[in-house]
Amino acid sequence: MKNILVTGGAGFIGSAFVRYMIDTYPEYNIIVLDKLTYAGNLDNLLPVHDSPRYHFERGDIASRETVQRVVETYSVDTIVNFAAESHVDRSILQPDAFIHTDVVGTYILLDMMRLLGLERMLHVSTDEVYGDVAEGYSVETDSFQPNSPYAASKASAELMIRAYRQTYDLDVVVTRGSNTFGPYQYPEKLLPLFITEAIDDRPLPLYGDGMQVRDWLFVEDHVTGIDTVLHHGAAGEAYNIAGECEKHNIEVVRELLRALGKPEKLIRHVKDRPGHDRRYAMNCDKLHALGWQRQHSFEDAIRLTVQWYVDNEWWWRKIKTGEYLEYYKAQYAERLAESD
Ligand code: NAD
Ligand code: DAU
Repeated sequence: MKNILVTGGAGFIGSAFVRYMIDTYPEYNIIVLDKLTYAGNLDNLLPVHDSPRYHFERGDIASRETVQRVVETYSVDTIVNFAAESHVDRSILQPDAFIHTDVVGTYILLDMMRLLGLERMLHVSTDEVYGDVAEGYSVETDSFQPNSPYAASKASAELMIRAYRQTYDLDVVVTRGSNTFGPYQYPEKLLPLFITEAIDDRPLPLYGDGMQVRDWLFVEDHVTGIDTVLHHGAAGEAYNIAGECEKHNIEVVRELLRALGKPEKLIRHVKDRPGHDRRYAMNCDKLHALGWQRQHSFEDAIRLTVQWYVDNEWWWRKIKTGEYLEYYKAQYAERLAESD
């Protein structure tokens, strides 16, 4: 029996991982520790709510007492750390929470792992640590060149992981995923924001010329990549999880508008994100060598994702109120007013 602590398990990718693990491994207990920030949502965990192998605790990974109590209560042996502030635009508006959760929080998890003698921790990181990749593909040994407070907070966490591995011989593995999309993604990231805004025939604020390149990974493929590294990754190693599907932002937006049957005139070119990385692209050979392959084509996955938001207005309409609208105004009101 494994007792796996999934931090940030009420967020987008973390909840997909929890749903997958409960379905896939009948011998595992899954304990979610989540602070339930604006991005955490217990609706994401409704499909596993009644499982006797799923447990939820609300709390902060940066609290030593909380982490110790949860580890001891459930005899946790393994941690999978999704908990993070994860949105680049919010890190530009207000970086503090990124340092607290992504840097201090990861350090507390490492320290509790050391003191309480846990077996393994998988830390979920990002391709953004490599920074802008003008040409070629990032490999796991490349240096970090983070360009946003978010990316720097994730790179900082990885440096602390490396130090704990070298100093205390902890069994830690890292995954670096690319741009992930799918059901239950908080509607502030490109795809869920634009899908839900387009459903309401509202303008879609595309930064700059829309020619930035991202590598798109369906959430279910990201989750199986994490599972592969959790079970087969070598201690102390990092593994890229790439969608191997590079697209310009404008192409992605056109694709989602086609799937929705909405016109391209909804697109507005607005003032760019400061420090905006032009391209991310990773080599994924190291993970392929462990036997992982993605199972979903971009075209099928985007159709499925669009349809999910069309069918699940109950999920996103209640998010798009209160704090969400304040954030939307701070991020977009001036940009949209200035756009042509
Ligand atoms: P998300 O923002 O949807 O979810 C983050 C979750 O962490 C939320 O449930 C939130 O409540 C929780 N959380 C935040 N601060 C916490 C704290 N101090 N203590 C406990 N819980 C806390 O994020 P996501 O998109 O699901 O990303 C999950 C992880 O994957 C992050 O570490 C992110 O950096 C990484 N990642 C994301 C992507 C992507 O495209 N979304 C790609 C690669 C890597
Ligand atoms: O690459 C992995 C990263 O992908 C993860 O580490 C992050 O957690 C995740 O948020 C995501 O970061 P991005 O900044 O790439 O994702 P976002 O959805 O915010 O933006 C995707 C692209 O779309 C990016 O080039 C900026 C652009 N964009 C985004 C928004 C929200 C727009 O043009 N307009 C927008 O309104």
